[in-house]
Amino acid sequence: MLLPDTCPVASNTSAQPALSWSIVGHGAIGLLAASRLQLAGYKPGLWLRQPAPVNIQFQQQPLQFLPAVPPLSAVLVPVKSYAVLEAVTTLLPHLTSDAQLVLSHNGMGNIEQVLPLLAPQQGLWFLTTTHGALKQAQSILHTGLGQSVLAPLNRAAQAHSGAVSAAMDCALGPVALTEDIQPFLWQKLAINAVINPLTALHNCHNGELAQPQYQQHISAILHEVCQVAAAAGYALHYEVTLERIHAVIQSTAANFSSMQQDIVHQRRTEIEAINGYIVAQAARFKLAVPHNAQLLHLLLQLQQGYGR
Ligand code: PAF
Repeated sequence: MLLPDTCPVASNTSAQPALSWSIVGHGAIGLLAASRLQLAGYKPGLWLRQPAPVNIQFQQQPLQFLPAVPPLSAVLVPVKSYAVLEAVTTLLPHLTSDAQLVLSHNGMGNIEQVLPLLAPQQGLWFLTTTHGALKQAQSILHTGLGQSVLAPLNRAAQAHSGAVSAAMDCALGPVALTEDIQPFLWQKLAINAVINPLTALHNCHNGELAQPQYQQHISAILHEVCQVAAAAGYALHYEVTLERIHAVIQSTAANFSSMQQDIVHQRRTEIEAINGYIVAQAARFKLAVPHNAQLLHLLLQLQQGYGR
């Protein structure tokens, strides 16, 4: 289904000057963000391995994106968790000394690796989103109207808060700005730790997970995630989180999860940053997480050889 896209901000309304945005890659969420930015009056460029103009249709409108031209002052990095480090390392020599970088992906564990790579005036942000997008041939479909939570991750980011949140509000808004992204990341991690591996292993739509035969497994996976989150200092309420998971299963019932799609298309999955992160954190806190460990093992086996 196509959804109406409205970004009321046709020009930058923040007190800070509008930043010049670049988007890494040509994944569905990145192109959705680029399209919405362009329609709002920004002129986003695409940062691609092989720079070339990209033409797409978005809401019956033909759009063209040109390659991003360094130095880059603001970059959205909506790449898979396992590609973040390489993307950022490649970007580093092309960033301005006060560039703003926005990471956005499933899973956890990258922020800690990226922060020390940046110069003192370079800002790091995380944006977690529930928007859904699908790339079909030359078109971008906005398949799930969602919202996003955005947080600055260092001091250098806070200084650019107005300009970054204004742009992200256009790209993947409505955006809620928060000081602490961790609780939101744990919530999203719990959702992904259940839906992604189960739909990939059973090769099914998200909606299939509402069936009674999956409930015991869902409960066991989630109990482990809650234990690990608590040990890490982020209390996830089991019942509330279970309800959230079922709300996502319901609202995305007809969709395939990103991990199911990765397996179907024989691509590497984000399992290491999702259930793998839970297993790694559990080891740190000496907790047993057999269900998450089994999912990690099964998915690693399934994806063996894909995209490494
Ligand atoms: O990765 C995904 O597919 C999505 O994050 C989610 C929320 C599980 C919906 O499919």
